[in-house]
Amino acid sequence: MTSPPDRLEFATTLTASRLPDVQRDAVLAAPGFGVTFTDHMVTATWTPDAGWHDAGLRPYAALALDPATAVFHYAQAIFEGLKAYRHADGSIWTFRPEANAARFQRSAQRMALPELAVDHFVAALDLLITTDQEWVPDGSGERSLYLRPFMFASESFLGVRPAKEVTFCLIASPAGAYFSKGLSPVSIWLSQDYTRAAPGGTGAAKCAGNYGASLVAQQEAIANGCDQVCFLDATEHRFVEELGGMNLYFVYDDGSIVTPELSGTILEGITRASILELAAEGGHKVEERGVDVDEWREGVQSGRITEVFACGTAAVVTPIGRLAWDGGELTMAGAAAGPVTAEIREALVAIQYGRVEDTHGWLHRVV
Ligand code: PLP
Ligand code: COI
Repeated sequence: MTSPPDRLEFATTLTASRLPDVQRDAVLAAPGFGVTFTDHMVTATWTPDAGWHDAGLRPYAALALDPATAVFHYAQAIFEGLKAYRHADGSIWTFRPEANAARFQRSAQRMALPELAVDHFVAALDLLITTDQEWVPDGSGERSLYLRPFMFASESFLGVRPAKEVTFCLIASPAGAYFSKGLSPVSIWLSQDYTRAAPGGTGAAKCAGNYGASLVAQQEAIANGCDQVCFLDATEHRFVEELGGMNLYFVYDDGSIVTPELSGTILEGITRASILELAAEGGHKVEERGVDVDEWREGVQSGRITEVFACGTAAVVTPIGRLAWDGGELTMAGAAAGPVTAEIREALVAIQYGRVEDTHGWLHRVV
């Protein structure tokens, strides 16, 4: 929409009331997911004339917004999710932050929001993580600091058009396992009434409305005793797309793995992309193609599909143990992850936590 200025300076205003060490340590010992936030946040403002400006790190605090703020009415908002990992030597690293920055730009384009330069996105992350570095848990139990950059229409105006004032904000929250069951297999509800994304829609963008629209289907999943919902394609209601906040992988009895192809209606997951490379390096044949839900059902029954797993920043790699739908169900795993799921999970987290060499250059050192 605009070309951002070459440099964006971040002013720093530190809080006078950091959370005391004892209280922070108690949070870090059992962080849960997305419930506690660090002492600071980053914000910046965009207007058509000035581009991005007023960027700064400041104390974490509520935002005061006029009731007519455009985002409340038309959901012109996007977000990202990535993590900072503490390695055994105390250093802190993010995983492929430039990929999140690029996806943030693609989401911005789709939602008629201004792009934030990759360097500014990464600089904002580095500043917040460095300032709040005591909030990054040690890597035991696969804990991390979850980072949530987001952007929204902050102009107060009720007409329907792209906002002429936009706010960027970055907050951070210590994170443990996304699913309360930890690494045990989760159950999936196949949504037959609701679709997540249609051709030409916003499925490939990480925009707020996609998540708002998925909640009733997620509620249906919970009501049917499942943890997560799986969406099918909007045209034929046949092809498996993804879960509400995770991509999917299928493992076959010959060791090959398949993930639904990016058809413009699926979020291009950074975990998904990383696994495509890691699995190929691990000797697995990898394929991106359409997966008919009947192939899933029949494949599990015949033994051709041996494992199914979900992947994403929050969920990491999570085995799927059961698929249920209106009129039936299928069990596909015992109490633990299958061997290929476990192998891929370990290949990924070993890089993230610095237990093996990062031969891909995926890690970005912050502290
Ligand atoms: N699909 C959806 C709808 C998501 O919200 C996410 C999470 O960001 C993913 C997939 C996985 O993406 P990533 O691996 O980049 O976290
Ligand atoms: C993530 O994995 O970062 C997500 O955004 C998934 C969910 C928390 C929305």
